[in-house]
Amino acid sequence: MKAQVRGFEMAYEDTGGDGIPLLLIHGFPLDRTLWTAQVQGLADAARVIAPDLRGWGESGLPGGAVTMDTYADDLRGLLDALGVKNAVVCGLSMGGYIAFAFYRQHAHRVRGLILADTKAGPDSPEGKQGRDDNIALARAQGAAAVGDKMLPKMFTPKTLAARADVANAARAMMARQSVAGVVSALKAMRDRPDSTSTLAEITVPTLVIAGAEDQLIPVQEAEAMRAAIRGARLVSIPGAAHLANLEQPDAFNAAVREFLKSLV
Ligand code: MLT
Repeated sequence: MKAQVRGFEMAYEDTGGDGIPLLLIHGFPLDRTLWTAQVQGLADAARVIAPDLRGWGESGLPGGAVTMDTYADDLRGLLDALGVKNAVVCGLSMGGYIAFAFYRQHAHRVRGLILADTKAGPDSPEGKQGRDDNIALARAQGAAAVGDKMLPKMFTPKTLAARADVANAARAMMARQSVAGVVSALKAMRDRPDSTSTLAEITVPTLVIAGAEDQLIPVQEAEAMRAAIRGARLVSIPGAAHLANLEQPDAFNAAVREFLKSLV
């Protein structure tokens, strides 16, 4: 499905129904198909909405600089277009950075937060340098080169060795993204604000999910978010690294399902 949102066409999945809306925000360098197992596995528990962010998947990329606020405002525009007043907002990794921006701008539209494989802090100086290196890599060799660099950290060694289907699906997802989309998100992540002070301002029910073997964003970051957000719960998923929802979809969906039940 596609909706006209803030000057571009935004592609999205929407399972419909009158369940609690669950907005799924994908990470970098990915698209909404990251969430296929959640769209299919949680449709009986929620109205699952999974968009491609601007510049990703089948969504357009209008001109102009992109920030975390840009992505967040696009998502508010999509909820408006779908007539959704408020939603449980679930962001994975970069999607979590966007969820913080969404909360700051549109807290009244947030019924609950799920922060998966993400962190509140900004990029370190080395991290910013890494973004610039990846911008150069994407421009010189394409999106696939950035994906191939990241793949070893997306999954546990066990999954990389034994589940070629999972690793290949992620590799293909990363390889089909546009260089313009990749570059705009790298700049947006490099320049994103520190969300640490946002944690104490969160007053909605919050679930933090971490892949127990995540090397990109270690589980200590998840524990720090849990400790700083009033009443938040942390679920650590064994046998999962950075893309916990892809690697262990049943455990991820079970955690989300239990959280959704606690809201009604
Ligand atoms: C992601 O999965 O969205 C990225 O790894 C986040 C990041 O690079 O900071």
